[in-house]
Amino acid sequence: MAKRVLIKFSGEALANEDGHGIDSKILKFIASEIKPLVEAGVEVGLVVGGGNIIRGVNASKEGIIRRSSGDYMGMLATVINAIALQEALEHFGLKARVQSAIKMAEICEPFIMRRAIRHLEKGRVVIFAAGTGNPFFTTDTAATLRAVEIGAEMIIKATKVDGVYDKDPHKYPTAKKLPHLTYDEALQDNIKVMDDTAIALAKDNQLPIIVCNMFEKGNLYDIIVNNNYSKCSIVSDTRSENET
Ligand code: GTP
Repeated sequence: MAKRVLIKFSGEALANEDGHGIDSKILKFIASEIKPLVEAGVEVGLVVGGGNIIRGVNASKEGIIRRSSGDYMGMLATVINAIALQEALEHFGLKARVQSAIKMAEICEPFIMRRAIRHLEKGRVVIFAAGTGNPFFTTDTAATLRAVEIGAEMIIKATKVDGVYDKDPHKYPTAKKLPHLTYDEALQDNIKVMDDTAIALAKDNQLPIIVCNMFEKGNLYDIIVNNNYSKCSIVSDTRSENET
């Protein structure tokens, strides 16, 4: 069992059926997937994207909103999602704290690494909001950075697909799932795991990246508590003995 993990959820995946807003059913599902992890003694840090509300790149593509401003808008979107997740976790009886990379003291705590670790040690889920606090970085990079800072054993990218493919599985029916990749393989252009900054940071720190489907019930538990990696992809330079 992993002792401490960082799970990154896609913001887009929180959306209602029309692709916007926050769907309470999905919040409930996520909280119900996190609860057994905490009960098993895993220390859980979370990062959530903001794509259900706004994406910096899209907001700035008409040239009216500058990219940096678009990115700040995206960071604020992640704070909205983080607060929603905090509520959902507390609704399920967990203790949760939101820490933001951009100070907004009325809403949540500021990000303080040592305090975040203390929360984790006390069994609280810590949700890291507002990305890295800087434009031109993604929430994947923020998640990797926080994972390294809190000493997580792995970063889990919980998304809508069940792993990493050699090409886009939605476009190419022949796309092949890759159960294990090295960091250098993950950095190749056709492989979309995370952006290069996030992968490079993971590589520098030998932090394994796991990509899995967040909607498959029990999947996170299987990976984190049972060390069962059959339904995900792993990016690392070494293979664990439980890998198939
Ligand atoms: P311990 O000190 O380990 O007991 O942690 P704690 O988080 O329970 O204690 P603290 O007294 O620091 O915080 C109590 C509550 O206030 C928690 O829900 C925190 O998330 C919240 N809190 C702490 N600092 C801030 C802040 O700067 N802004 C906001 N909005 N809430 C804060």
